[in-house]
Amino acid sequence: MQISFNRPFNKGNAIKYIQETLSLQQLGGNGKFTKKSQLYFNQYFSSKTLLTTSGTSALEMAALLSNINPGDEVIIPSFTFVSTANAFLLRGAKIVFADVNADYPNLSVSGIEELITDRTKVIVPVHYAGVACNMDEISKLANKHNLIIIEDAAHSLLSSYKGKPLGCFGRFSALSFHETKNINSGEGGLLVVNTKEDYQRAEIIWEKGTTRNAFLRGEIKKYEWVDIGSSFLPSEINAALLYSQIEIIDTIQKRRIEIWHKYFNELKILQEKGKVLLPQIPEYATVNGHLFFLECESGKVRDNLISYLNKKGIQAVFHYLPLHSSPFFSKKYHGKELKNTIKFSEQIIRLPLYFGLKKDEQDYIIKTIKNFF
Ligand SMILES: Cc1ncc(COP(=O)(O)O)c(C=O)c1O
Repeated sequence: MQISFNRPFNKGNAIKYIQETLSLQQLGGNGKFTKKSQLYFNQYFSSKTLLTTSGTSALEMAALLSNINPGDEVIIPSFTFVSTANAFLLRGAKIVFADVNADYPNLSVSGIEELITDRTKVIVPVHYAGVACNMDEISKLANKHNLIIIEDAAHSLLSSYKGKPLGCFGRFSALSFHETKNINSGEGGLLVVNTKEDYQRAEIIWEKGTTRNAFLRGEIKKYEWVDIGSSFLPSEINAALLYSQIEIIDTIQKRRIEIWHKYFNELKILQEKGKVLLPQIPEYATVNGHLFFLECESGKVRDNLISYLNKKGIQAVFHYLPLHSSPFFSKKYHGKELKNTIKFSEQIIRLPLYFGLKKDEQDYIIKTIKNFF
């Protein structure tokens, strides 16, 4: 049996809606399907949202909106995707890497306070695998030191912290609709703007620094260049694909969460035997079925397990090489050893998890992992 790591979702009204955008001859951004998608997210977050070309560009918008200047310091976990760092580096920020917790690879709040200086401007919690960071503690710290919270909620669609949606805690939050995510538009993302005052500027930055949106709404006679900006809005083809999945988002979530729980329940026996650790979900967090990982007892066991599964036709992968020790950053890093970051980076294995994963395929993956041990 050959089981790929990911199979992008391809059901629903995707073809119909893409065909419709072609017929409407409305392929640029901010058309019917962008508006419909944003309306869904505005209601879900009770905030203003903008579709973007990627989660990366949503983070870049958040960095622009936070007025990051050269030398400003931004605290992020080292255990994350490069875009969490690049978005701020592009604005000249100094990236300050923090460690993650020993029991779950989310930002470790206890280590953050000593990283804060009078140049610290932003803190970026990344909710790994859609499992919430401890937002009460992070918010308390941010308030105490007057820091902006930007949530990297790339994995976090429809997940929550103490019942409140992830994406609502930061002044800005970024979600991703890359093809590996729960719903996808090939490449795509969302910026959640949680304060009214920021929205007007967000809309301008989204449209290359112009007042084009106000013009299209008939509020002004001509549109002008009024601010810095870029082309952050996706084409209607991407938005049509995304909207076709928003329509059936509950069905998609249900199946992904079901797959997550099946891995968890059936691999529990390996945890009981001391072979692996399963994800430890804090009681304040939820599972949104974005990704499933196991923690092996050592890097060697993890690498052997990946090779074994690959040989058996199962594409399982490692996740996140630490950013602080990357070829690009290692010479610039002068902080502490980030022990938990290194541990998770060496010991985590990600298993295939997507809507189209068939029951017999998941059974085969579980059986093969058990055979390995
Ligand atoms: C934590 C995190 N942040 C940001 C991104 C960037 O999202 P995108 O690939 O949509 O640019 C990713 C990508 O998967 C991610 O894992």
